[in-house]
Amino acid sequence: MKNTKKLYVKTYGCQMNVYDSERMSEALGENGYEKTLNPDEADMILLNTCHIREKAAEKVYSELGRFKDLKTYNPDLKIGVAGCVAQAEGEEIIKRQPLVDLVVGPQSYQNIADLAANAVEGRKQIDIDFPKEDKFSMLRGVRSAQRGPSAFLTVQEGCDKFCAFCVVPYTRGAESSRPVSRILDEAKQLVDSGVREITLLGQNVNAYHGEGSDGKERSLAQLIWELEKIDGLARIRFTTSHPNDMTDDLIEAHGICKKLMPYLHLPVQSGSNRILKRMNRSHDAESYLSLISKIREARPDILISGDFIVGFPEETDEDFNDTISLIKNIEYGQAFSFKYSTRPGTPAAERDQVSEEIKTARLHELQDLIKKQQKSIQDEMIDRKVQVLFERKGRFDNQLVGKSEYLHAVNVTDPTISVGELKQVHITKSNANSLSGSVVN
Ligand code: SAH
Ligand code: SF4
Ligand code: F3S
Repeated sequence: MKNTKKLYVKTYGCQMNVYDSERMSEALGENGYEKTLNPDEADMILLNTCHIREKAAEKVYSELGRFKDLKTYNPDLKIGVAGCVAQAEGEEIIKRQPLVDLVVGPQSYQNIADLAANAVEGRKQIDIDFPKEDKFSMLRGVRSAQRGPSAFLTVQEGCDKFCAFCVVPYTRGAESSRPVSRILDEAKQLVDSGVREITLLGQNVNAYHGEGSDGKERSLAQLIWELEKIDGLARIRFTTSHPNDMTDDLIEAHGICKKLMPYLHLPVQSGSNRILKRMNRSHDAESYLSLISKIREARPDILISGDFIVGFPEETDEDFNDTISLIKNIEYGQAFSFKYSTRPGTPAAERDQVSEEIKTARLHELQDLIKKQQKSIQDEMIDRKVQVLFERKGRFDNQLVGKSEYLHAVNVTDPTISVGELKQVHITKSNANSLSGSVVN
């Protein structure tokens, strides 16, 4: 019998880190680690980190500082740093914060159990290699519904696009896709454990080109059609996609695949062609607009979401106004926007920077506009019937919270429904960040 040890995992950054944390917890679970939500009782603390913006990386060091006391009380406690900061900084992390026992980059998680065991024996571990094999196939542990009926499944990792602002190609490495059969096996395990919705993940998920059973490559659309055949799986989503990889078969799938949800996250970053060129995005504002029209032709009710960076080096008022015009043109149902953050080692870090004041002002203006669009699209749901997958209990008695096809949060108070059920809901109210309604019988 193995002794049960407690594992506390804290995850930063994107959904791929959420997925990776689940996989690492499952693998460590095979070695006797049980998850805890309380770091005070942990034998192992794992921070799964993000390097995308300066603040994200700095947070890791301040969090590590807070664990100092825990190590004083429990000298056997081991602290690990995983994720993109681990990849970017490697042994620097241990130099800067000697209480760290283990540093593991995103391409080395197949070694997590051995690394943890060595760390427990008192040997500091650093593994930031980029091995060739599919790390996920080497990770042990059966997939289970860890976050309710909706689950993430990474199908593609890494990026070869090298946008001038971005660290991902350096922290996650070259673009690679997992074979179709492994993804289908994992999806079936998830469905068997109660999952009804799967979100396929990748830094460039629509660049997916994994191997099929005949050795030939499959596109993301072909993978979606394979997943569609799984009984019990009700919904499929994918994120994050790049405009240049939005192929015709994928657009067509949005029109006809019943299980593929009408929501698309398609970051554009800027509406200025000059800036897009300087960002090395290899698409322009016009090609993005016509792509969105084509997608809306295939699926008129699709909700479009995006990412924006304001204050990219050399961005003028005119460039920023082009971004505002593009947003007005598209009408986003959701969007994530960020002030440009200098990342060491990326080309844009060396260029003329925009002042913090201007970045702040532009971010406010852009977010005000997005908020209005978001709210008006949400308000349009009033009196409509949407399909809701209930994910968790709400704050009030008999209240459940779920997501509509369009990823709007929907609250329903009804004692007859339970988590994991899919119901038609008549929307009666649009709140600040959610909708309310009642089940249609
Ligand atoms: N692969 C995705 C994006 C992954 S990073 C894509 O190409 O769309 C997620 C988002 O973080 C990006 O879309 C971008 O808006 C933002 N981001 C990335 N690097 C940044 C930086 N240096 N400063 C500010 N925001 C950044
Ligand atoms: Fe980063 Fe660009 Fe790759 Fe997206 S496409 S991960 S923004 S380099
Ligand atoms: Fe962050 Fe790495 Fe994801 S830098 S956004 S955790 S790929």
